[in-house]
Amino acid sequence: MALEFFFTLALYGFVTTIGLILILDPTNIPSFGIKGKLSFDQHDLASVSHDFGGQSQAEPLAVFHPDSAEDIARLVKAVYESTQGLTVSARGHGHSVNGQAQTSNGIVIRMSGSPTKPARINEKLKYVDVWGGDLWINVLNSTLGYGLAPKSWTDYLYLSVGGTLSNAGISGQAFRHGPQISNVYELDVVTGKGELKTCSEKQNSELFYAVLGGLGQFGIITRARIALEPSPQRVRWIRVVYSNFSAFTQDQEYLISLHGQSPDVEKLDYIEGSVVVDHAGLINNWRSSFASPGNVSSLVGVANGGVLYRLEIAKNYQQSNANSVDEEIEALLKRLHYIPATTSTTDLPYVDFLDRVHKGELKLRSQGLWEVPHPWLNLFVPKSRVEEFDKGVFKGILGNHSQGPILIYPINRNKWEKRTSAVTPDDEVFYLVAFLRSALDNGDSSQTLEYLNNQNRQILKFCDDNGIKIKQYLPHYTTQKEWIEHFGDKWSTFYRRKMEFDPKHILATGQGIFYPNFSYNE
Ligand SMILES: Cc1cc2nc3c(=O)[nH]c(=O)nc-3n(C[C@H](O)[C@H](O)[C@H](O)COP(=O)(O)OP(=O)(O)OC[C@H]3O[C@@H](n4cnc5c(N)ncnc54)[C@H](O)[C@@H]3O)c2cc1C
Ligand SMILES: *[C@@H]1O[C@H](CO)[C@@H](O)[C@H](O)[C@H]1NC(C)=O
Ligand SMILES: *[C@@H]1O[C@H](CO)[C@@H](O)[C@H](O)[C@H]1NC(C)=O
Ligand SMILES: *[C@@H]1O[C@H](CO)[C@@H](O)[C@H](O)[C@H]1NC(C)=O
Ligand SMILES: *[C@@H]1O[C@H](CO)[C@@H](O)[C@H](O)[C@H]1NC(C)=O
Ligand SMILES: *[C@@H]1O[C@H](CO)[C@@H](O)[C@H](O)[C@H]1NC(C)=O
Repeated sequence: MALEFFFTLALYGFVTTIGLILILDPTNIPSFGIKGKLSFDQHDLASVSHDFGGQSQAEPLAVFHPDSAEDIARLVKAVYESTQGLTVSARGHGHSVNGQAQTSNGIVIRMSGSPTKPARINEKLKYVDVWGGDLWINVLNSTLGYGLAPKSWTDYLYLSVGGTLSNAGISGQAFRHGPQISNVYELDVVTGKGELKTCSEKQNSELFYAVLGGLGQFGIITRARIALEPSPQRVRWIRVVYSNFSAFTQDQEYLISLHGQSPDVEKLDYIEGSVVVDHAGLINNWRSSFASPGNVSSLVGVANGGVLYRLEIAKNYQQSNANSVDEEIEALLKRLHYIPATTSTTDLPYVDFLDRVHKGELKLRSQGLWEVPHPWLNLFVPKSRVEEFDKGVFKGILGNHSQGPILIYPINRNKWEKRTSAVTPDDEVFYLVAFLRSALDNGDSSQTLEYLNNQNRQILKFCDDNGIKIKQYLPHYTTQKEWIEHFGDKWSTFYRRKMEFDPKHILATGQGIFYPNFSYNE
């Protein structure tokens, strides 16, 4: 196997330290020390060459199936010590949309699905230690038996811990618990020098904050210690409809402002929302597990500009408190300004609520609509400019076609630790606006990848032209200038940390920020 690796590298004109060890003693595989499987199998290579976005293809030289964190450290160290610009990319579940977990001149480490340590729970201190490649659905599964669960989520649970912590990890709980990166106590990380380090707020804190929201640039997360809370049993899940954008956002902002105020009543556990510009079809409604989302429009008639807004809220509860939930929700709804008689309510077990998007996935898969290109665009829009964004984009550029759900919900910035690498707008409240689109090749030109990518560019240009200082979430840029602008006043820290933890720029080159031996001026 290792010999084969050497030959492959030689084939590509690389003579690396790994190769050198083998030239000196080709049978001396133990000195290389790797226990996991380094695979050159075509099937393996192909399986990590694409991602959920379906727009980016890159085949690595090899795929590594690690045996342990130490194993990853040995591999990264060998690449670090090589001199030929090889790279290493961790791949979680490959749910990026722009090739972020790919590399064409290096090794992809398959973090998810590798045999690793099971989750370990500390019931007393309420945390769980999980492997960096574990999927959130499995993290949940491992804690529920103890009556505990993580606090902050993503909408979809088939994503890896390392993958979401490299971005932020947000959902309808972020307004009160902060993103997932605000709910981590400790990490084990293999840096770009091949060192395995434990880090936290107290220990190696610079590495800890660098890695959180760090787009994989500083190290590979092999273990994360995730904060837990007692798991609720059930969820009351409610949706109401608005045609007035100001009324909608004012209500959303009011609801997130209740958190942190006393008394501790009438507080929600989850607040999201969506924009409905296009009422028909599974592609637009797949994330909804409500019975007849398509009927919203017939319910309220054609709205102003054809655009409607759905507020989506949820309250967690224990079976024993079921009665008071009704009262609380009723009192809360009375203070909102939605269109009367547009309320729909569902009541379900907590796990089913958290795993709700998976049902949509199965629906789309059954119709062959899951593995299509996904030109997604995720933006953080400052609260002060969201009204203009509505007029220019939802009621303008989109032209009544969304080709997928559009999420919109406010987030409190004070729940984001400033020392992490994650970037947000400056406003104290900002909105996540997520265009979760699917491109189809069915003869309708307004559904094609080209059309949707062009529309994404128009949206970004609209913001730029009007000085709306959005930040991309799950950012994708192709030039140095754009990345520096994206990070803004965090760039110098980001750059300094990169030089410290991955000085040869070998990690996660698929993000397009740094390449081996490629350096930006500070
Ligand atoms: C259907 C769907 C729903 C989604 N919903 C949400 C949502 O509600 N909220 C949200 O915040 N995001 C959401 N996302 C986005 C998602 O969080 C990111 O795309 C995330 O990166 C995907 O995780 P992954 O494990 O597939 O990462 P990958 O695509 O495998 O990797 C992403 C990046 O992280 C790096 N990386 C992977 N593992 C590690 C590791 N262990 N250590 C260091 N770096 C690593 C990779 O090199 C790559 O650069 C969604 C995506 C999809 C496809
Ligand atoms: C949860 O774990 C149990 C035991 O390992 C397994 O049987 C079950 O299928 C898992 N559930 C999910 C949703 O993965
Ligand atoms: C929309 O809501 C805002 C805020 O509640 C209100 O001031 C405004 O009059 C409403 N507009 C319409 C057309 O109803
Ligand atoms: C809308 O509601 C009507 C009944 O009110 C029902 O017959 C129809 O199937 C619903 N349409 C959708 C798309 O759910
Ligand atoms: C969208 O549809 C509404 C009516 O349904 C119409 O008034 C509006 O002009 C349309 N917008 C665009 C941009 O086509
Ligand atoms: C490029 O690699 C060489 C050794 O391989 C290293 O000495 C140098 O610092 C690297 N350049 C940058 C900018 O990281």
